[in-house]
Amino acid sequence: MFNPYIKDFPALKQTVNSKRLIYLDNAATTQKPQTVIDALTAYYSQDNANPHRGAYALSVRATELYEAARETVREFIGAGSTREIVFTKSATESLNLLAYSYGMSTIQEGDEIVVSIAEHHSNLVPWQQVAAAKKAKLVYLYLDENGMIPKREIETKISQNAKIVSVTHASNVLGGMSPMESIVKKAHEVGAVVIADLTQSVAHRKLDVVKLDLDFAVFSGHKMYAPMGVGVLYGKEKYLEQMTPFLYGGDMIEAVFEQSATFAPLPQKFEAGTQNVEAAVGLSAAIQYIQTIGFDEIQRIEKPLIQYALQRLSENSYLTLVGNPDPEDRTGVISFNVKEVHPHDVASILDADGICVRSGHHCAHPLMSYLGLTATARISLCFYNTEEDIDRLAESLKHVRRWLGLGFE
Ligand SMILES: Cc1ncc(COP(=O)(O)O)c(C=O)c1O
Repeated sequence: MFNPYIKDFPALKQTVNSKRLIYLDNAATTQKPQTVIDALTAYYSQDNANPHRGAYALSVRATELYEAARETVREFIGAGSTREIVFTKSATESLNLLAYSYGMSTIQEGDEIVVSIAEHHSNLVPWQQVAAAKKAKLVYLYLDENGMIPKREIETKISQNAKIVSVTHASNVLGGMSPMESIVKKAHEVGAVVIADLTQSVAHRKLDVVKLDLDFAVFSGHKMYAPMGVGVLYGKEKYLEQMTPFLYGGDMIEAVFEQSATFAPLPQKFEAGTQNVEAAVGLSAAIQYIQTIGFDEIQRIEKPLIQYALQRLSENSYLTLVGNPDPEDRTGVISFNVKEVHPHDVASILDADGICVRSGHHCAHPLMSYLGLTATARISLCFYNTEEDIDRLAESLKHVRRWLGLGFE
């Protein structure tokens, strides 16, 4: 079926191993549309200067572009004010900022930090550090047999001791979406703040941080068609105000004396040093591109594609799907294993056919242990993928076992 968006992505027009490239690793990073590439070129061709510092026209332009990008992000996620939008280098940095600036100052001995067993290491290891330093406890929300967080886990694990609940909105391994409304409701009932890791959902669903009543949210630009090197931290102003800076240095101060300093207002307080203006400009262009397509259209393409992929993969009797087989309430992240074949071999054999899939533990060791696995192969779909991509994948997967001299269909 004709997909009108492929033409927007130059990287998708190439061949690999003499085959048309099939890119199915969008959860790792997405390809970039020409509009984003053009925005980067324009920035460096015309507007590059250090922002917030110079009195000259170019620096003013760089500042304006950077701050306009902040406004684009604010509007995109429904935040009330640009003071609540902090640019970081990635979701990982946003989560570290929260762990150090919020976690280390609010968590006390005996408190609980609640995460799900499906967290990416970047929403887990920083909280382990906080818990260890403060003698607090990490409490896990475990998953049901379909890889989803059941209501009873939310009701029983988020207790009066919980101070922070930091949960992924969509799993980067299983594709399941977390019941964020129920998590927020319960967390707020017990007085805990909620941090939502939107990294795997923000490019696929219209999200509104105010409607969801999130206290903090994080995501990376590069998984939503923007360049690498820019991430976002959203935080309610009342929390960001009370937090100490994470990184110190230029651009985040108000005044500096020999022995002390005062800090800039939000959000600059959290943006020490020269910021990645280029990537913020690219993120703004990526958001505008997404908005031109619209989330209704994105869902119109992605939903049946996920269904088709689940169906085609389940036709292979040597293949086990890991995660929710129901196409509802999940993203296009689909993990699987081929009987008696290591996922790295699956990925290498698919690569010979020009198909990019991810293999490994997906930065989710505790989840892998919980599932009794060491690794999976993983595809992750987005709106520029097609049924033809899935057919090529399904066809290629048929040959994986034959290549290795194992029994095949
Ligand atoms: C759910 C989730 N959270 C956080 C991250 C970390 O993103 P980054 O490496 O861009 O910081 C990832 C990356 O795969 C992810 O999938």
